[in-house]
Amino acid sequence: MGMRMGMGGLLLAFLLAMPGLTAGLTRRYTFNVTMATVTRLCTTKSIPTVNGRFPGPRITVREGDRLIVNVHNKINNNVTFHWHGVRQLRSAWADGPAYITQCPMRPGQSYVYNFRVVGQRGTLWWHAHFSWLRATLHGPLVILPPRGVPYPFPKPYREVPLMLGEWFNADPEAVIKQALQTGGGPNVSDAYTFNGLPGPTYNCSGANGTFKLKVKPGRTYMLRLINAALNDELFFAVANHTLTVVQADASYVKPFAATTLVISPGQTMDVLLTAATNPSSAAFAIAVAPYTNTVGTFDNTTATAVLEYAPQRFAAIRNLPAPPLPRYNDTGAVTNFSSKFRSLASAQYPARVPLSVDRHFFFTVGLGADPCQSPVNGTCQGPNNTRFAASINNVSFVMPKTSLLQAHYQRRYNGVLAANFPAAPLRKFNYTGTAPNNTFVTHGTRVVPLAFNTSVEVVLQDTSIQGAESHPLHLHGYDFHVVGTGFGNYDAANDTAGYNLVDPVQRNTISVPTAGWVAIRFVANNPGVWIMHCHLDVHLSWGLSMAWLVNDGPLPNQKLPPPPSDIPSCS
Ligand code: C2O
Repeated sequence: MGMRMGMGGLLLAFLLAMPGLTAGLTRRYTFNVTMATVTRLCTTKSIPTVNGRFPGPRITVREGDRLIVNVHNKINNNVTFHWHGVRQLRSAWADGPAYITQCPMRPGQSYVYNFRVVGQRGTLWWHAHFSWLRATLHGPLVILPPRGVPYPFPKPYREVPLMLGEWFNADPEAVIKQALQTGGGPNVSDAYTFNGLPGPTYNCSGANGTFKLKVKPGRTYMLRLINAALNDELFFAVANHTLTVVQADASYVKPFAATTLVISPGQTMDVLLTAATNPSSAAFAIAVAPYTNTVGTFDNTTATAVLEYAPQRFAAIRNLPAPPLPRYNDTGAVTNFSSKFRSLASAQYPARVPLSVDRHFFFTVGLGADPCQSPVNGTCQGPNNTRFAASINNVSFVMPKTSLLQAHYQRRYNGVLAANFPAAPLRKFNYTGTAPNNTFVTHGTRVVPLAFNTSVEVVLQDTSIQGAESHPLHLHGYDFHVVGTGFGNYDAANDTAGYNLVDPVQRNTISVPTAGWVAIRFVANNPGVWIMHCHLDVHLSWGLSMAWLVNDGPLPNQKLPPPPSDIPSCS
């Protein structure tokens, strides 16, 4: 080729420079699910990993790319993977929740997850979606803007994924198994972690067990925060540093400053941190601690990591003062923080809030109980000799034995699901007042069928049964707008007036406030079966979930394609 570019070359260069005009690349990853030995808190054990790594490998794509992940299950356990927050437009077969969109890969089986990432940018993550395996099977999923498209904020000097997690000295699978046998609450974790490392606040956790973020004075860093903890919402702060939140759940937000963040399991947040030009110390502590109002036990520890301007000895790191964090049950601090989220709602990234609603739903979410029936050592460990259960509209979700999506694709619903999930509680009570005497739940694999393109509003109402507490509700297959929230019982007559229909935050996971409610809206324009559940795994195990069955639209590009040929069979 000569020095001059031909017309074709020019045109190609022009097309490649135009955001949105390129089809995106195909990015391929291989996940070998294997057992690997790791040591934390002086406990050495064999854990399920992806490619022998804990936390798992980072996936990086650009908006518009196709992602192909070839998964080989080489452990002695069933497994599936979920690409948390990815919309999966017409690729429901790749969504991953076990028994919802696929049957699990049995030991020795493989499955290829194949989907495009469209209309989202920022940080998401991937995790196993079978039982509690996500405790160690998780990793970041970074979505960069298309080539040539800048962030709507100054480009950070460096970007650092930071996954918050929970470490159990025991096997998490044994923990949930025991809880389901006894009917009581599960044993709690032994530590919180930063990218898998518990840090110096715990016994037997040294320099190698401490996460360090090395920074240069005056530079701006973007932390891609992910709460991968199983059962705990977390406060997060960095001593002496203010953070600027710019993204939540892979949607841009109007930037706002905060000294303490709250992040619920399932949620992600990109935050900017500018290192001081003249730091008052060579290192500062980064800390997380739980937010909860549970009446049960919880891991009430604080974990720290290090923001390091100059190399420090471990002795110095251990003595760094932790940033002040709210008390574990400080709902006021949580409300103050959550109220700051707004969609960026710019010309380039408009907030497409559904202004009209076709179907209204009112869902109570919370705990309940089952009769003891099969006691362990004569009793059950739930309240008053019952078993803990959890429900939406008093229906505790029963996992089917086969995939709901496959049943739907074949239009064979009999014996698999019932399309009669209640749109409102059958029994009305003072949801956030004194709990009713009868707290028993009902059971079923019940779904809400939706016609394609239905505009949906769901009010999620916390209940005080077995104690009011916050529930991070996650919807698969959609981002929703959070149009309203409040404390006490939702009152349509008064509360709709306060809705934000201009720039409400768009998310895939929102916490129903303790003794309060939240209203979300989405348009059911993605055909498939989509689970919505509490992202506290213990509540998911107890049945706090339901599913939307979104039917095909009339046009060819509004239909669910056939399943991939390698989808794991259920028999
Ligand atoms: Cu992050 Cu259904 O999960």
